Amino acid sequence: MTAEYQVHGNVAVITLNNPPVNGLGFATRQAVAQGLEAAWGDAAVTAIVITGAGKAFSGGADIREFNSPKMLAEPSLHSLVRMLEASPKPVVAAIHTVVMGGGLELALGCHYRVAAPGTQVALPEVKLGLLPGGGGTQRLPRVLGVETALNMIVTGEPVKSELLAALPGQLLFAKIIEGDFMAGVLAYANSVAAARPLPLVRDLPCKHPNGDAYFQFARNMVKGMAKNFPAPVQCLDCVEAATKNKFEDGLVFERERFIALMMGPESRALRHAFFGERAASKIPDVPEDTPKREIKAVGVIGAGTMGGGISMNFLNAGIPVKMLEMKQEALDRGVATIKKNYEAQVKKGKLKQDKYDQRMALLTTTLSYDDLKDADLVIEAVFEEMGVKEKVFKELDRVCKPGAILASNTSTLDVDVISNFTKRPQDVVGTHFFSPANVMKLLEVVRGKATSKDVLATIMGVAKKIKKTAVVSGVCDGFIGNRMIEQYSRQAGFLLDEGCTPQQVDKAVEKFGFAMGPFRMGDLAGNDIGWAIRKRRYQEKPDMKYSATADKLCELGRYGQKTGAGWYDYIPGKRDAIPSDVVLKMLDEHRKTLGGTPRKISDDEIVGRLVYSLVNEAAHILEEGIASKASDIDMVYLTGYGFPLWRGGPMLYADQVGLFNLVQAMKRFAQNPLDDAKFWQPAPLLAKLAAEGKTFN
Ligand code: NAI
Repeated sequence: MTAEYQVHGNVAVITLNNPPVNGLGFATRQAVAQGLEAAWGDAAVTAIVITGAGKAFSGGADIREFNSPKMLAEPSLHSLVRMLEASPKPVVAAIHTVVMGGGLELALGCHYRVAAPGTQVALPEVKLGLLPGGGGTQRLPRVLGVETALNMIVTGEPVKSELLAALPGQLLFAKIIEGDFMAGVLAYANSVAAARPLPLVRDLPCKHPNGDAYFQFARNMVKGMAKNFPAPVQCLDCVEAATKNKFEDGLVFERERFIALMMGPESRALRHAFFGERAASKIPDVPEDTPKREIKAVGVIGAGTMGGGISMNFLNAGIPVKMLEMKQEALDRGVATIKKNYEAQVKKGKLKQDKYDQRMALLTTTLSYDDLKDADLVIEAVFEEMGVKEKVFKELDRVCKPGAILASNTSTLDVDVISNFTKRPQDVVGTHFFSPANVMKLLEVVRGKATSKDVLATIMGVAKKIKKTAVVSGVCDGFIGNRMIEQYSRQAGFLLDEGCTPQQVDKAVEKFGFAMGPFRMGDLAGNDIGWAIRKRRYQEKPDMKYSATADKLCELGRYGQKTGAGWYDYIPGKRDAIPSDVVLKMLDEHRKTLGGTPRKISDDEIVGRLVYSLVNEAAHILEEGIASKASDIDMVYLTGYGFPLWRGGPMLYADQVGLFNLVQAMKRFAQNPLDDAKFWQPAPLLAKLAAEGKTFN
């Protein structure tokens, strides 16, 4: 049963019971309706209580029913709320732990609401690009006042029940129940059993003393915050409508806006990301009940840029870390950087001093591998050279206890080769963090040929603990993310060959919504990194075509922000990218060597070539099984590469453009003599889906 029905004396208690958070799925809604009918039919019952079993009153809609017809099947949430409002016997919502979204909307249909202290109260729909569509925008302002309700609806953030209960004039909670919750609830229900008429939230007035001025001010604020997402402003429109319309008209207004958002691309993208995050942690051939190894102590080899950031993730999660280096000076530098990072957070008020002390107390250092004998997980982040990795993994194999997981943060080397430096390749895995590793959400988990399933399951669990979005990648050059970005960078180079300036390309891509265009990105990351990779490529794949511009830039010593000059000029101490005459001259001279006349390239073509190059490579990656699903690729790009969230990632974007249209564009790009015709042959999977009128997702 998804809701239980019991009678205590004269009070009927309907208990939502749909773990984990009593989502209001179809069966639960049906069971509540049945409970109400049973209570109405029982002459001995004088009051009705609705509450939730376990760890929530209700978390809202059942996400397992999202996008399915069940979500709208009768009784819908609307119908259920109407039933509650029409109840001839008083209904009390007994709220504890969590009341969110549809759960709160359900409670707002009850005559009375009582709550346990510490309950998290929220209408979080805006986080999925939606608005509360079950009457929340119309009822919450009536009980909390326009401003408090609007804040909650527009931000989606939870507020504690006792804070809301303390607001002057609030009508959300009739009472905060301290002590034995159900005893207090039953006593309260008995106390209102005879009350008539029964109060309805819909009958309350909804007014703001300076409505027009307030909404104008709020609209400006919300517009600025919302950027490319329509939902926050729509939330505001609905709350404003609540102040200006009759209640029923307000509900219709809310309904129409809700449906428009539900059908719109932005909410679709946010829901895609929400489900994509969950889907990423599921690996097709690794059952969810695979036993995990216990990770209580972590070793990190290398206290450089990545080793320090990686360590911070574990310290933040309360897991002790031992960092190993070759020299004491390197350890001291590494520890000092970690301290500096934390101290900056303390200064900004983002980290409390005692938390900082606790974290630093979990950090120890060593110069000796023998000190890693108790580590459950060791992550290597030393120089990117196979010879160095070999030494490290041989040492780890010598000292680490059986069952310890040995992970490499390599970004370009073959994890299968690395695992064979040990006699336990099943325990070796790639953990590819992104820089800065303490900030970036993405973790590519690289699954070697021999990596055992419980190692994968363990790492996915660890990723969750350290708050990363983990995506599994097979072994290939660049894994998912960097393999795709290489094609994007090549296209960026061809665009320069043909007549674009770096700022023109960056502007177009940033207008599309990327956090940073390819050239500003290169300057930030260091252009020498790509140079080193290309030098290797020239050996491995001599027939692969590249623009020579990036090499010429590096030959001028323009590595980016760290050398004060890259694709752009920089003023010392500042990060603003200033167009550079030196670079423009270099490009001019380079173009002369190519013959042809530079042409004006439209922003559409720039974005198309850059984004479709990602998609075509991704299709190869899917086909080869390097990624197990299209949404994994979207998660990599949303969390690691600044792809615009409201577009849902390259694969969802491609689906929305239409794969047929994409393939047609690629055929046009292939005819451009300055581009790489071979690359623009659509990946077989892409060609097949396009021909069949299908999508990636
Ligand atoms: P880094 O040069 O900042 O740090 C490497 C550290 O390892 C140095 O402190 C060095 O003293 C130490 N080290 C070298 N050999 C060692 C050994 N045998 N034993 C103990 N310590 C040793 O390098 P970074 O940037 O932190 O990179 C480390 C690894 O992370 C590389 O494999 C790199 O490809 C990978 N990576 C780097 C990213 C980045 O953006 N920097 C992003 C993702 C992965």
